[in-house]
Amino acid sequence: MSLTLPQSIVLTEYDKDYPVEVPWLDLWHVYVVANDKGGAGKTSTVANLALMILKKLRRGDPSKGIPGDPDARVLVIDLNAQGNLTVHEFGASEEQNDHGKGLYDSLHAGTALKPVTVRPGLDLVPGGGEWLKDDVATLYRRLRDKYDANADLRLLQCLLPIAGDYDFILIDTPPENPPLQRLAMGAGRWIITPAKTDNGSLDGVKEMSEQFKKVRKVNPLLTLLGVVLFATGRKSTQIHQKAEKRLREILKGRYFKFRTNIGHSEAVAQESRDVDGEPLVALFDRAEGGDTSLPETVRSVHEDYRKLTDEVIARSAEIKKAIEES
Ligand SMILES: Nc1ncnc2c1ncn2[C@@H]1O[C@H](COP(=O)(O)OP(=O)(O)O)[C@@H](O)[C@H]1O
Ligand SMILES: [Mg+2]
Repeated sequence: MSLTLPQSIVLTEYDKDYPVEVPWLDLWHVYVVANDKGGAGKTSTVANLALMILKKLRRGDPSKGIPGDPDARVLVIDLNAQGNLTVHEFGASEEQNDHGKGLYDSLHAGTALKPVTVRPGLDLVPGGGEWLKDDVATLYRRLRDKYDANADLRLLQCLLPIAGDYDFILIDTPPENPPLQRLAMGAGRWIITPAKTDNGSLDGVKEMSEQFKKVRKVNPLLTLLGVVLFATGRKSTQIHQKAEKRLREILKGRYFKFRTNIGHSEAVAQESRDVDGEPLVALFDRAEGGDTSLPETVRSVHEDYRKLTDEVIARSAEIKKAIEES
């Protein structure tokens, strides 16, 4: 590999004598889902990818001779002050849900994240508290003053002690919060960007790509894996083409759009907007179980996520191979 990777990083007072060594080549399994705009589909994408990947790993693929791994584990990190993923999608219990306090404390001290198990094989670092807004911003400024660009690697430092316990790690990021977006990107290898076709969502891709360029200086293997069009009409070909043109202008040589779009479904939207509604992941569990009482659009969106999961896995494996061979 011709890329020069940082040998070690200094991120706390205690590290000065013993800087953290980052095992860069063992971190191909960390995915960040980011778009600076809210409502772009980040949280839905994280929740569904996490569960689909877990099921896929546990089941294996007998048709391709890939054995299932019943011990496969997936970790999700919720960096949102809203905590939708933590509460609504993954139903963390009162006991489990510290509303991101543990996450904040780890970031503050530079110590290991402490996930909780929300389903067999699925662990979560909960989000949801106010400290994921102002307090993190203050902490981030302090870290930058002290450690300069390496501040972006703070979440990575907290993830490193547990990263090897998981087969797949997904980080959900908040909109309009550059400090947390950069901490997420500093810890990740791949960025998946959901975007709606409206200008606001596409502007969010631009903002995201600005953060990406900055973080890549300290995380040289960070890669834009692809954009996925979210909640879009199945026949809106012209609108898709227009959005793709804009995305090409924004991302230039780094542009890639997944073949799969996540289709629009009013039924899915309604369930996820409704506080008492069923979490998407529960809805899709039913779809998988063959529940024919579900609206057709729900089953189609479930199928979209399944295809997207396959694309994400295949494309990251392909790029990883190319980088390793270069
Ligand atoms: N397939 C879909 N079709 C239409 N609307 C959807 C679909 N999936 C989710 N939504 C709606 O989109 C909203 C935003 O999605 P979300 O994943 O929370 O975005 P973000 O995390 O980027 O803010 C959800 O609250 C839900 O109402
Ligand atoms: Mg969200």
